[in-house]
Amino acid sequence: MEIVAKDCLAPRIVRLVVKAPRIAAKAQPGHFVVVRLNDRAERIPLTIADFDRAAGTITLIIQEVGKSTAMINAMEPGQSFADVLGPLGTPYPIEKVGTVVGVAGGLGAAPLYPKVKALYEAGNRVIVILGAQRRELLILMEELRAVSHELIVATDDGSYGEHGLVTVPLRRVLEREKVDEVIAIGPVPMMDACCRITRELNVKTVVSLNAVMVDGTGMCGGCRVTVGGQSKFCCVDGPAFDGLQVDFAELRQRQRYYNAQEREAYQAHQH
Ligand code: FES
Repeated sequence: MEIVAKDCLAPRIVRLVVKAPRIAAKAQPGHFVVVRLNDRAERIPLTIADFDRAAGTITLIIQEVGKSTAMINAMEPGQSFADVLGPLGTPYPIEKVGTVVGVAGGLGAAPLYPKVKALYEAGNRVIVILGAQRRELLILMEELRAVSHELIVATDDGSYGEHGLVTVPLRRVLEREKVDEVIAIGPVPMMDACCRITRELNVKTVVSLNAVMVDGTGMCGGCRVTVGGQSKFCCVDGPAFDGLQVDFAELRQRQRYYNAQEREAYQAHQH
């Protein structure tokens, strides 16, 4: 589980290519892994952002948001994870559906990329809307451009592309042409906002949920989400779900559960 390449995509966001041949052999779009730095480390779920079966590698993209992600982002090629568990989760179904709009907010570009790449290769018309707070936080722009027929970029502060939220071009595209499916991945408020629009316009929508996870194999219940009134586990039933059925208010509340402890650990690590 050695890191073979590393580059910095944006401030506090790195891309690691990790030698994991048995995971690369089975990886599908939608899968994720759980990594541990050492045998006492926190278990961190990370999307498989890309994989290369021939080289036996998987690509992980990590944003530093706390102690563990800061420690991972400080790792260099030649260093290894204690373990990388995966591939986990239910793969995203890749079918020819017609026109697909992929919407990514911030780090959401990492899980969106393998899905739209596979949908593009399956012959779908693919439109990607990529958004971030500001220009320097836009990631995978060229990679997404290469697997889409149209790429629309938006930044909250207008420093690149359209000025504003991704929901503005999303509504415009949905009102412009017939879209068969929307995939929205990013912060919970962004996915919630996208689903409000697609619900109004009656367009099938898939979201990828980043619930708090522990084991990643359906045993702890930490990643429980409510979808269509039923309890689901993000790690085994997802992480992709029907966005029009997700209880986003509950998800937002559960995501905040360990904020104080996470802040405390991060501050202690920094000092
Ligand atoms: Fe434990 Fe999903 S992470 S049940």
